[in-house]
Amino acid sequence: MDRYGRSVNGLRVSVTEACNFNCFYCHREGCPESSREMSSEEVGCIIEIAAGFGVEKVKITGGEPLLRRDIVDIVAASVKPGIKEVSMTTNGALLSEKAQELAEAGLNRVNISLDTLDAEKFARITHNGSLGKVLDGIDAALEAKLVPIKLNMVLLKGINEDEVDRMIDFAGKRGMILQLIELVDLNGADFREHHLALEEIERSLAARATVVRTRRLMQSRKRYLLPNGEVEVVRPMHNTKFCAHCHRLRLTPDGYLKPCLMRNDNLVDILSHVREGDLNGARRAFVEAVRRREPFFKRTERERCPHAL
Ligand code: 5AD
Ligand code: SF4
Repeated sequence: MDRYGRSVNGLRVSVTEACNFNCFYCHREGCPESSREMSSEEVGCIIEIAAGFGVEKVKITGGEPLLRRDIVDIVAASVKPGIKEVSMTTNGALLSEKAQELAEAGLNRVNISLDTLDAEKFARITHNGSLGKVLDGIDAALEAKLVPIKLNMVLLKGINEDEVDRMIDFAGKRGMILQLIELVDLNGADFREHHLALEEIERSLAARATVVRTRRLMQSRKRYLLPNGEVEVVRPMHNTKFCAHCHRLRLTPDGYLKPCLMRNDNLVDILSHVREGDLNGARRAFVEAVRRREPFFKRTERERCPHAL
């Protein structure tokens, strides 16, 4: 539990900075560049420590996690007592080759990034990525039962805002959940050009939904059940509720615990302790990282108490 009463139930583990795509908006999980990289055993050791403090969910991410040659070992090492779900966020391009093996190693489910169903637009966004390969990856993930699959669609003004309905249909027909993600500002200029506030889209979803759920343990995200599919909306920018209901801690590829996506000034080195065999030091590092957690977008005094002068 951090100083703001938020428990930590999830660890988001970035296992590489490398990516086979180069999406122009990529926030690179907010990780600084580094040459140190955790081994699969070291990842497993840190997850075991996190599980000892009550973490139940692990998400493996990148860059592109499937670029790690030992990704199957990393998944296997993530399956530890107390961890109820191991999932992965991938761009899907290499998934058709790996889905079955990953499932056998203990991967429960995947999130796949897919911003458009138009091959030309896809190549433009990712700098020459192949839409066909990602679609094959989605089929393989469905076959390997890495479900429920979520499709991550980052909304980009002037590029893909007209594709929301098509994406809902595409996901819904295959039993997948569409996650509409607001562009996060971690690289300036592109943000101003392509940022789309999701309020209007949410209003239209709410009008069409048969059921609306608020996922309190998932940053207070809203989940809309529509006749043709399920949609979750991820709206982090200037959203104090999102931060107030954030229950995750991050781990960078070079072994630092990262209390917040948006900041790099409060990282805590855990890998050095693991490398020295100092597990108590590693546990202390975990506690320190939780202590340093702080909502990035906070409510102001006036919002908390609207009648105050
Ligand atoms: N804003 C919002 N989402 C982003 N992602 C990458 N960069 C950004 C950004 N600037 C998403 C990707 C992927 C997930 C890991 O993060 O689409 O699905
Ligand atoms: Fe970034 Fe994901 Fe695109 Fe790779 S596929 S560049 S990690 S957003």
